[in-house]
Amino acid sequence: MDIQNVGIIGTGAMGLGIAQVCAHNGFPVTAVKATPGSWERAKTTVEKSFGRIVERGKMTADERDAAMSRITFSTDEHAVACCDLIVESVIEDIDTKKDLFRRLESICRPDALLTTNTSTLSVTAMMAVCKHRGRVAGLHFFNPAPVMKLVEIIHGFETSDETLSDLDAFCKKIGKDPVIVQDTTGFIVNRLLTPYMLNAIRMLERGTGTIESIDHAMRSGAAHPMGPFELADYIGLDVVEAMATNIFHDVRHEHHAPPHTLTRLVQLGYLGRKTGKGFYDYAQKPAVQNPALLRPVV
Ligand SMILES: NC(=O)c1ccc[n+]([C@@H]2O[C@H](COP(=O)([O-])OP(=O)(O)OC[C@H]3O[C@@H](n4cnc5c(N)ncnc54)[C@H](O)[C@@H]3O)[C@@H](O)[C@H]2O)c1
Repeated sequence: MDIQNVGIIGTGAMGLGIAQVCAHNGFPVTAVKATPGSWERAKTTVEKSFGRIVERGKMTADERDAAMSRITFSTDEHAVACCDLIVESVIEDIDTKKDLFRRLESICRPDALLTTNTSTLSVTAMMAVCKHRGRVAGLHFFNPAPVMKLVEIIHGFETSDETLSDLDAFCKKIGKDPVIVQDTTGFIVNRLLTPYMLNAIRMLERGTGTIESIDHAMRSGAAHPMGPFELADYIGLDVVEAMATNIFHDVRHEHHAPPHTLTRLVQLGYLGRKTGKGFYDYAQKPAVQNPALLRPVV
């Protein structure tokens, strides 16, 4: 299928980033807010993001207006009924995603491609609730979606070759650099990155270093653009905790279980950049270590 338009369910950080990148590259997009409330804030977020690209001189104001006009915001899932490709990007919870796939099966055309942006969950489990399974796959973008080149195309157990090649062609049209990955927990990038972030948190708990010193060491000593705590805050600590839990359930080794500090921060609603506080407190400029973590944490 030659994908002509895209429906996105979930207007969080990733859903909006994906909407932006598709619209920027000429695709009409329907972005559906999946939780109650108006979509106005979602629209403002995308406008601001495009605004920053214009300020950097990478896009003209006319191009921004044209891209914005390609995005239709909605609060009704039925708005994606005519879309060729659906990308769901709601919270990382398998029951929520399976329920959504069940509904999408009845809302969308039988040939529409149904994809998930899950970070670690089984694409095959979502496929299993669908009748037309060959069109189900993972389309895993990276944060921030408008910037990061990689998309992991996840090959569920019954994803058809045609679906994989349609998604590959689509990713290239929106300027991405896709890789096909088998449906295993965490795929490639998160299966490697999640244990790395958990190890950094355990290192902090053991007192090996501070948040700043561990981040500094990995930036300066391993040439990482961000240290592990900066990265976890950027991803969202709820997402990191969900990824760890899913990998832990899969491999059943306590080394992969979410560490105490991570769980406590999530319980306190300190989810990283998106809530203004995580391992760092972003209300301070430059950000400083979250004061809640200055005492011993275990
Ligand atoms: N943050 C990352 O770095 C990253 C990267 C790649 C993929 N992902 C995946 O993208 C998806 C969304 O993550 P995000 O970072 O955009 O999170 P987010 O917290 O920014 O957004 C979550 C979205 O889920 C919606 N939501 C919340 N509760 C819901 C419910 N009960 N039912 C339906 N929708 C609900 C919210 O309205 C919001 O639109 C997740 O599956 C995540 O694993 C995240």
